[in-house]
Amino acid sequence: MKPLYLRWRLILVAAVSLTCGLFAVAADESTLTKEQIKQFLLTAKVVGSQDAKKGITHTMRLTLSDGTVTHDASFQPIDEHKATKELAMGTELNFVDSYKYNIAAYAVAELVGMDDMLPVYVERKWKGTTGSLSWWLPVKMDEAERHKQKLTAPDAEAWNNQMYRIRVFDQLVDDTDVNLTNVLIGEDWKLWRIDFGRAFRLKKELKDPSKELVHCDRQLLEKLKTLDANVLTEKTNHYLSKDEVKAVMARRDKIVAHFQKLIAEKGESEVLY
Ligand SMILES: Nc1ncnc2c1ncn2[C@@H]1O[C@H](COP(=O)(O)OP(=O)(O)OP(=O)(O)O)[C@@H](O)[C@H]1O
Ligand SMILES: [Mg+2]
Repeated sequence: MKPLYLRWRLILVAAVSLTCGLFAVAADESTLTKEQIKQFLLTAKVVGSQDAKKGITHTMRLTLSDGTVTHDASFQPIDEHKATKELAMGTELNFVDSYKYNIAAYAVAELVGMDDMLPVYVERKWKGTTGSLSWWLPVKMDEAERHKQKLTAPDAEAWNNQMYRIRVFDQLVDDTDVNLTNVLIGEDWKLWRIDFGRAFRLKKELKDPSKELVHCDRQLLEKLKTLDANVLTEKTNHYLSKDEVKAVMARRDKIVAHFQKLIAEKGESEVLY
């Protein structure tokens, strides 16, 4: 089976176990629950900071500690709103790049069962500025690096199944900045999707669904079907406008209809996994 890569407009963005005295630093998602991670990100003390090495919006890599657990987190304070913005793919009207969409994306991920592929994002104030704070992931490289090194995952099927989930999620949240540094690769070729600052546009159409949406995880499709506008509104309160919620629901309808049509044409086993 051929490994699958996201058919993105390659805006090739200009692309612990470490012990510290008594502290075990390697708190990972397998030892803490998501709720504990949220609490940690919301309340742990910032004990260090450095510039993130990648990205164009000057995120900061912070080190947090609650006295027991020490772990890094990515702080993204951007909240840019412009009537027009010139981008590589053309002019975007009513441009927004906001940390709020990271938090909204995580809330949406929780609702559709995609939260195993995103870091936990919360809202946090640091040095007087509010932004999103995400749990630092155990990453080996990103997609840009994998491309550069021409590496392929050993298990193409497992890799593709992760990529199909990401593709569906990207259509749902309508991210306009799907670049290769926003897909991170962890242990055993586990994929993570980060950085949704330019998602949640108001567009209700899908992007090239006949090419982008060919297979779907069964559970994800079931979760999409049950996504409820009122619950989505409640969970993304303060982060998504009414129109942004409406657009998510419209895209959800189209994703579900698209897969239902594909299943009718090809049979369930050809489409779902
Ligand atoms: N939670 C995380 N865990 C591990 N690495 C992260 C995390 N968040 C961000 N990074 C790293 O920091 C980089 C920049 O972060 P992010 O993509 O959020 O910011 P950005 O400046 O908006 O990037 P972009 O250039 O895509 O707009 C990422 O490409 C990734 O390498
Ligand atoms: Mg990024």
